[in-house]
Amino acid sequence: KENESLRGVKVLVTAAGTVEPIDPVRYIGNRSSGKMGYAIAAEAVSRGADVVLVSGPSALIPPEGLKEFIPVESAREMMDAVLREAEDSRIVIKAAAVADYHAKEVADQKIKKNDKELTLVLEKNPDILFELGKRKKEGQVLVGFAAETQNLIENAKAKVEKKNLDYIVANDVTKPQAGFNSETNLIKLIRRDGSIEEFPLLSKRELAGIILDRVIEEKKIQKI
Ligand code: PMT
Repeated sequence: KENESLRGVKVLVTAAGTVEPIDPVRYIGNRSSGKMGYAIAAEAVSRGADVVLVSGPSALIPPEGLKEFIPVESAREMMDAVLREAEDSRIVIKAAAVADYHAKEVADQKIKKNDKELTLVLEKNPDILFELGKRKKEGQVLVGFAAETQNLIENAKAKVEKKNLDYIVANDVTKPQAGFNSETNLIKLIRRDGSIEEFPLLSKRELAGIILDRVIEEKKIQKI
């Protein structure tokens, strides 16, 4: 029998990297494949949740049984979808790798090469998770991810505070088999109270189950 622990609970998941256009044929992107976020969405569906998946471009096929799949490209498009869908979501899990910057000017035509250097001016993107933290509703659970290459714990803890999160999943993306595009991940789950739980190398789907188990148990998630 299926696990029904999230029956009737709306879960919003973000996945994959945002892409920021430079001209009609080029963009700034990152190495996120969407595997981590899609695994969380699939695991939440298998527990009966109403899952909305907001995803940057990904080669993956969205899991079956989603309430809604919302494909987006840029960070600003992701923010519009996420802020709208978060309004009535009980759990929000942000596994997407959101670009921190976008090109200040997007060329209408393909940029031609010449002998000179080309300078791209980048402007900051809004921080979606920070905006969610500001708007967090009573009883809503916010789970962020942190992809770090140094000072993992310290940087992840700072994000919990700054973004008003309940949990942050810190992955050290320098480790082999962990982080971007791998089938497995190596994570530390950091709670708001500073406690840290560390897990061995596991598949992204297994880790999705663990993250959801912790949220359900510790936040006493029931249908609202
Ligand atoms: O997709 P995969 O190939 O499976 O790879 C998985 C992953 C490594 C991308 C994933 O596990 C992960 O770590 N995702 C978060 C990556 C990231 O952008 O980390 P960050 O430390 O830059 O951001 C911290 C948090 O703030 C993230 O939850 C991010 O979604 C959010 N954020 C960041 C910037 C921004 N402008 N808006 C945001 O909401």
